[in-house]
Amino acid sequence: MIKPHGSDNLNPLFVYDSKKHHALMQEAEGLPSITVSSAAAANAVMMGAGYFNPLTGYMNAADAMGCAENLQTTAGLFFPVPVLNLVQDIITISGASRIALRDPNVEGNPVLAIQDVDAIEEIIEEQMQTMTRQVFGTTDNNHPGVAAFNSQGRFAISGAIQVLNFSYFQTDFPDTFRTAVEIRNEIKEHGWEKVVAFQTRNPMHRAHEELCKMALEALNADGVVIHMLLGKLKQGDIPAPVRDASIRKMAELYFPPNTVMITGYGFDMLYAGPREAVLHALFRQNMGASYLIVGRDHAGVGDYYGAFDAQTIFDEQVPEGALEIKIFKADHTAYSKKLNKVVMMRDAPDHAKEDFVLLSGTKVREMLGQGIAPPPEFSRPEVAKILSDYYQSLDS
Ligand code: ADX
Repeated sequence: MIKPHGSDNLNPLFVYDSKKHHALMQEAEGLPSITVSSAAAANAVMMGAGYFNPLTGYMNAADAMGCAENLQTTAGLFFPVPVLNLVQDIITISGASRIALRDPNVEGNPVLAIQDVDAIEEIIEEQMQTMTRQVFGTTDNNHPGVAAFNSQGRFAISGAIQVLNFSYFQTDFPDTFRTAVEIRNEIKEHGWEKVVAFQTRNPMHRAHEELCKMALEALNADGVVIHMLLGKLKQGDIPAPVRDASIRKMAELYFPPNTVMITGYGFDMLYAGPREAVLHALFRQNMGASYLIVGRDHAGVGDYYGAFDAQTIFDEQVPEGALEIKIFKADHTAYSKKLNKVVMMRDAPDHAKEDFVLLSGTKVREMLGQGIAPPPEFSRPEVAKILSDYYQSLDS
């Protein structure tokens, strides 16, 4: 199987040893503690689950700036985004060398992790601006990822962490949430060698389904791991439980047995387009995938990125050999009325726009909200039914 990023073996930061775990939970009760941002909590979950291998904790300012500006830490480790614990207020932890991090997303703010405090640095506005511009390509606060990043505090607490639980992800999505360790194990159990990963934050329509099937066939891969984001999304995106149900229905009815795994990870969407695509590739390598599908407007939002910027970044900004995982670059995919099947537009050069069944996200939402099923060329009827029930429940 493909090696993890940056080390021979995966080193998840979750404490699996039950005795050690118990002792740390007890220790945490006596430590100064702080409730972290949702982004920092998601970073802890990703490190706990092995997805951010080989990081051992939150970055300091120099490493974060290095990753934002040059996609690498000061020690030369390739990493496409800063991984920070930015807090508003450090009064409760003043002078402490070890602190408990509390979860902002679970009632009662239980302890999520313990952190060794290497340093606490104030990030000045200019550094925030630089990181924002480099990672998101804009400093516009209307961008949901920019707004979330900048809503955090300005004190960066750096240092190693020991993760004690997986926040709400394991409890809310027991069948879907997986760590990178678990996915590696399941890939082995399936006996798969060549594995394709599919990133998604949306329900899967025909285009998504066929992208997975095209990648499986073109790469002669053994299986596809559909790996959905289970964390926070911007308003208007479909909530994870509805998306999960619709994706499961699609896989059950339309994929041959033993070719697909339905899984998810606990991270808040950054909407950072190209940079997030590189992060996506890095953590899919850590879970054992040899390819990641990157299609049109991957991890994008609004008009902030060009439709294929998330593909070109791999040629322009990712140094040769920085990652082992490869990208399956997909063109805009849609149902062709001429060929009666879903195709990539580059494979149908004689087609005009009208030859495809194209519906905007807004149009699809509108139809589903009115109880009108999108055409079967666009959406499987069983998937449309789940989504339509959801949209109609919003009105009642
Ligand atoms: S994302 O934010 O998670 O990337 P989404 O779930 O919509 O959003 O997309 C999942 C993957 O499918 C991404 O790689 C995206 O580029 C690709 N994709 C979605 N729709 C299409 C399409 N019609 N044609 C080509 N690629 C697509």
